[in-house]
Amino acid sequence: MIELQNVWKSYDFGKTFAVSNMSLRVNRGELLGLIGESGCGKTSTLKMINRIEEPSSGDISVNGEDVRLQNPEQLRRNIGYVFQGIGLFPHYTVAENVCTVPQLLDWPSSAVLDRCRVVLDMVGLPAAQFADRFPSQLSGGQQQRVGVARALAAQPEVVLMDEPFGALDPITRADLQEEFKSIQRKLELTVIMVTHDMTEALLMADRIAVMRQGEVLQIGSPAELLNRPADPYVQKLMEMPKRRADRLEQILGGDVRLGAEG
Ligand SMILES: Nc1ncnc2c1ncn2[C@@H]1O[C@H](COP(=O)(O)OP(=O)(O)OP(=O)(O)O)[C@@H](O)[C@H]1O
Ligand SMILES: [Mg+2]
Repeated sequence: MIELQNVWKSYDFGKTFAVSNMSLRVNRGELLGLIGESGCGKTSTLKMINRIEEPSSGDISVNGEDVRLQNPEQLRRNIGYVFQGIGLFPHYTVAENVCTVPQLLDWPSSAVLDRCRVVLDMVGLPAAQFADRFPSQLSGGQQQRVGVARALAAQPEVVLMDEPFGALDPITRADLQEEFKSIQRKLELTVIMVTHDMTEALLMADRIAVMRQGEVLQIGSPAELLNRPADPYVQKLMEMPKRRADRLEQILGGDVRLGAEG
């Protein structure tokens, strides 16, 4: 479980706020989608949960424990984190990247190797083929999958994902979304997933939090947000997937009259 209570974050001593009075709760086994325009405070929110950044004020707890009372390194080892824009260690092989945390936790080396194989398989990168490569020898999408494998390696209950599927082609992306959703359900992972893609949020999230300029405008199930948007911005975001689907149908289902109809 993740809980934020009246959390504020300023990077300029209170002149402006990247996160304003944010309160939310993600229950055990729940996937919360966090969506909102660039710069609205999504990454800042994730970073405060595992203490890469400290809040200016407010309370954050993970599994009922105040994160401030925990050693930051230890806290980070217990929370899987998929960085925005990959963030692999360039001089480590895929296997070394994936196994960093289990190794830090002093798992026996045979368990580390087994786990490495399992999580690489989970994300569709067979260890035999990929374990010994360096990040520079992978495509962007493959690197992103290594990032997801790394976040899951130490069997965390809580996983924070910052646009985890951004660099993937649409087919691989859909596959990995489904794959991750079933892993998340099976392992009852508590997840916050940042995305720019409302379709992705609708497909994967139990609830969605919409942010704008540091504030949570609304948080609710996809159906609640669709049926009772609390704000015109939420309404516009929610209409996006359907508008695109309608437009596609119009284009693909249309005939020569399409031009005449505009
Ligand atoms: N280390 C930092 N120092 C100063 N300002 C920062 C820092 N990190 C983020 N900010 C500012 O805080 C605000 C929120 O940034 P954040 O990275 O949380 O946005 P985001 O919602 O993740 O955006 P994006 O979708 O583009 O990744 C932005 O205005 C950004 O410029
Ligand atoms: Mg970000």
